[in-house]
Amino acid sequence: MSEISVGQLARRAGVSVATLHFYEQKGLIHSQRNAGNQRRYNRRMLRRVAVIKTAQRLGFSLREIAEMFRELGEQQDITKDNWQQLSVRWHQALTERIEAMQRLRDELNTCIGCGCLSMDNCRLRNPDDALGEQGSGPVLWEGGES
Ligand code: FES
Repeated sequence: MSEISVGQLARRAGVSVATLHFYEQKGLIHSQRNAGNQRRYNRRMLRRVAVIKTAQRLGFSLREIAEMFRELGEQQDITKDNWQQLSVRWHQALTERIEAMQRLRDELNTCIGCGCLSMDNCRLRNPDDALGEQGSGPVLWEGGES
């Protein structure tokens, strides 16, 4: 038997039934209805749930995971090659996030003991001086942005 109930999938995947329903609502897993109108999941969904949980543990949102699945072509199976693709991509994404967090941490060093939160001086308050490029003074107020 290649199809299992939502309870069986939940037990084997180590997640709640509500979590599975939520994943399905988000299009991350799929089921079919049997003659009694009950959800039945292909066993391949176990691997999909494992991938979802792993990606969440790495900090990816369900929206990002759904996008990754879309890029894999919405296939039901997550093959070894798919896993290779995903893990390489996740490694790169995590590296970029770590670097971004390290930059933020370094910028926070200048704020410690300061408290000015100045648009002129604080790089965390005004990253890359984005508003400075639009002119000096209260550019948001004068620019008519609402
Ligand atoms: S709070 Fe003063 S530099 Fe950030």
